[in-house]
Amino acid sequence: MIKGRIVGTGSTTPKRILTNQDLATIVDTTDEWIMRRTGIKERRISSEGQSENTSDLATKASLRALEMAGISAEDLDLIVIGTVTPDRQFPSVACFVQKALKASKAVAFDVSAGCSGFLYAMSVADNAIATGNCQNALVVGAERLSSVTNWEDRSTCVLLGDGAGAVILTANAVNDGILSTHLQSDGSFWNLLYSTDGTAKIPEILNTIEGKPFYLKMEGNRLFRKAVECLSDIAGKVLEHHNLSSADITLMVPHQANLRIIKAVAERLSIPMDRVYTNIQKYGNTSSATIPIALDEANREGMLKPGDFVLLVTFGAGLTWGASIVKWSF
Ligand code: UT7
Repeated sequence: MIKGRIVGTGSTTPKRILTNQDLATIVDTTDEWIMRRTGIKERRISSEGQSENTSDLATKASLRALEMAGISAEDLDLIVIGTVTPDRQFPSVACFVQKALKASKAVAFDVSAGCSGFLYAMSVADNAIATGNCQNALVVGAERLSSVTNWEDRSTCVLLGDGAGAVILTANAVNDGILSTHLQSDGSFWNLLYSTDGTAKIPEILNTIEGKPFYLKMEGNRLFRKAVECLSDIAGKVLEHHNLSSADITLMVPHQANLRIIKAVAERLSIPMDRVYTNIQKYGNTSSATIPIALDEANREGMLKPGDFVLLVTFGAGLTWGASIVKWSF
């Protein structure tokens, strides 16, 4: 059985930091409320003219992952990018990244699966590898959520940020790498998190941001409960599928939507928080970028070694959710 193995990780976030105190000058909120209800301290926001569009961030993260993997962009067969904030409606972010990397051989396309975009994209690439059609794949989660943020809605604007993370997958016949990915969707709950029509006013303090003709709308409280339920359930299923217990997991790298969601899921799975990677305090929710950014940071901090089982678990608009077990191999 051919499997995809992660051989490189990379990530990047924009330079500009937007703190909770900055947000308190825009909407009726406080640092104390945001910290207590979400765990977020600050987030990174793209600025115009700084080459920080979704494809720019995706390209930077990809270059870092390629460098770590020691693989040339010319050797990529596939580029799959999870995003809900592409530079343009079309062409795909993946095609812009292909051009920037000069990855002339690669087939490139985006996947739209809300915050679950990275795990969906990784599953597509892993399946392509399993068929024998692909040797090297670049998988990215990249977002510029600030462009679809309603800066007048305190219940969502405090949550979101921009960034990108990437992994390189290569084919291997050894029993490690991505053991499996379980994905689920339920379109009947689409209206808990979606993009709406209408232009949100961009406050003076953020006048570098170019608005899109729609913004994000969320029913946070109901979504919170669905998130805890779906994340716990799918993580339990993938563990059971591989006959693993929570004690076997070296590190859980969850989607970073809310620290309280992460803690509730960890508790349900009996995984202590010192084996759960969180960086939501620095970046907020960067949608499909949260998992690959966190994975890259954990990897570069030396938290992973060959043979470790890593649990990736995600949830987002759609609704979509999923979990993957990776046996770390480098
Ligand atoms: O990434 C995709 C998945 N995303 C998620 O799963 C996100 C899930 N939802 C959440 O993370 C949480 O529901 C939120 C962080 C969005 C909200 O937290 P909550 O504890 O569910 O608060 P709430 O929506 O029930 O609101 C409680 C109160 C309300 O005031 P009243 O009605 O009790 O007077 C809100 O108006 O908090 C108020 N509120 C705020 N207050 C200060 C809402 N946003 C803010 C704010 N600052 N930024």
